[in-house]
Parts: sequence; C-alpha cells; structure tokens
Amino acid sequence: MVGAVDRRFAAGIEPDLIVLNDWHVVALSDDLPVGGVISARLLETNLVVWRGDDGRVQVWHDRCPHRSVRLSGGKVVNNALVCPYHGLAYSPEGRCVNVPAHPGYVPPPQACAQTFMAQDRYGLIYVCLGEPAHELPTPGEWDDRSFRRYINGPYAIPTNGLRAIENFLDVAHLAFIHPGVLGDAAQPDIPDYRVDVSDDGVHAYDVKVWQPDPYGNGAGGAYIGYDYWVMRPFTAYLRKEDPDGKCKTILFHVTPLSETEAIGWMILSLNFAHDTPATEVKAHQDRIFSQDTDTLASHDPVRLPLVGSAEFHLPSDRTSMVYRTWLKRLGLTYGVL
Ligand code: FES
Ligand code: FE
Repeated sequence: MVGAVDRRFAAGIEPDLIVLNDWHVVALSDDLPVGGVISARLLETNLVVWRGDDGRVQVWHDRCPHRSVRLSGGKVVNNALVCPYHGLAYSPEGRCVNVPAHPGYVPPPQACAQTFMAQDRYGLIYVCLGEPAHELPTPGEWDDRSFRRYINGPYAIPTNGLRAIENFLDVAHLAFIHPGVLGDAAQPDIPDYRVDVSDDGVHAYDVKVWQPDPYGNGAGGAYIGYDYWVMRPFTAYLRKEDPDGKCKTILFHVTPLSETEAIGWMILSLNFAHDTPATEVKAHQDRIFSQDTDTLASHDPVRLPLVGSAEFHLPSDRTSMVYRTWLKRLGLTYGVL
C-alpha cells in the first residue's frame, strides 16, 4: 500500500512516513449520505470517498484499475461502487465483483481498487494512506456534557498546511489580523509564557492576550489565557477560558493537499452560548478564519523553514519555535525547508 502511494508524491520528493502514516480529514460525515460518492485530495493523491448501503465509509485511490478513469464519477449500486466508464462494480473491499460486458467473467486478481484505512468519527471522515502510527486525536472535553460541539470547514488554505498550524499557534497576530474581536492594536503586548515538549506533542501554557470580544458575543473584553497542544504535525488543539469560566476549545485539523495547499477543519466545543443558533456560532468562526486567508497566502517561502536564517524569531514566537524544533526532531520532510 505504501509503495503505491509513494509513486504519487510529487516528483523528486522523498516519501515522508510521518505524514503518510498519520490520519487526515478528507470530508464531513454529513456530506456523505448513504450511497454518496465524492472526490477528495490528500498528499497529491486523488481519492474517492463513498458510503455504501451498509453505512460504512470507504476511501480509495480515485482510479479504476481497468482503464484508469476516476471512480468518483461513478455511483453506488448494491453496496458496490460502479465505475462510470464500463460499469465494473467494486465491493467495499475493493474487489471487482461485476463486469457487465461479460456476465459470468471472473475478474483477475489485479482487478482491485486501491483501498485505504478510513474512519468516520466526530462528524469527520479520516483516512490514512499508509499504516496508522497513532490513534485519532479526541476533541477536547469530549466527555463533558456541559460542552456543545460544532464542526467548521472545509476551509481552503492557500499555503502550506504547517504554516496554517503555526498561524493557529500565533497570538501576536491577533491584534492586527483580528482587531476588535481577538485582539486590539492598542494592547498588542504578549507576556512571556511557557512551552514544553512531551511524548504527545508540544504544549504552551496560559498564553495571555487582550481580546475585545473573545467569543464574538459582544460581552466585553478580557485578558484570555490560551493553552495549546500540538498533537500531530497537522493537528493542534486550543483551549481558551475567561475569568468567568466561559471556555472554548478548538481541535484544528489541517489536510495537506500538497506542499503548497491545504484544507482546514475545526471541531469547536463551547460550554456557553447554548441558546445561540449553531449557524451563528459557526459563522463567527468562519469570519475569523477568512481574516487569515490573505496573510496565509502571502508567505514566501511557502514551505516552513526548520533550519537556516530565512526568518527570525521573537519571544512571542516561542510556541512556533518549539513546534519547528519538534517537527525537525520527528524527521518531517514534507512541506519544510
Ligand atoms: Fe472503469 Fe473500465 S475504466 S470500468
Ligand atoms: Fe488568525
């Protein structure tokens, strides 16, 4: 399985097992009803994502092994995916089970679609193109019933996915890119804070920032403490809590389409604003994300520098500095300089 995917990584790029053996989000569960077929992209690989009549989700290489057309143009019939070109049908295991032009024909062993491991969890569809090296991250406060959950995305990210994770970890930009909501240019100071690395990733603690409207509900400004946990290279978690106990967490997944383009997904958990319509809660997050897009698109170089002096660091960049060091120690090669 790994070797076949490796060939589809961009020419000249060594396969990166850190990325290949991780879980990545490719779709919202709600976008895939029973019988649904959609296309997706991950690590320069075209995927077909479909849900059989049995409710299970399959994620395959989007290629019919007969004449190499895209299976995502097909449809689900009798719990099998039927190719649009000659009607060959593939079972959920990827085996060809019907060849309309030749009733009774027994397909050869190579008449198999390339399948990948997939999970339908937390309202998102995850896939691993290699051999999973980790469990799926659990959204914050998953067992706490005082929290409500909202799923946001997909967000088009016009740059390298690691840059998007760094932007998520970056509190010094809030005063300038999200003024009036998450920051205030008149109070841009970021006190020093602590960051450490453990076996489960990078943690930053109580990163303080003044926010005029921290939850988008007009309730007034407050100094908010952010706790961050970078679980995987493309997955980070944020917990912010005000002095009254209002708490919001975000599990942020970034799906690397290539080294220069990505898609973002968020699972929001809030222990307040339960009377606010979900559409409003989600729209607030959408507005915030849209404010980041132009800056994200302007990074040059696009890839994240882990070595060298292409960029310099400030004390407020401590989380991103440790993140870069951690990525280097992991041995990440995809999307970095
Ligand atoms: Fe798919 Fe022929 S190319 S059935
Ligand atoms: Fe931002």
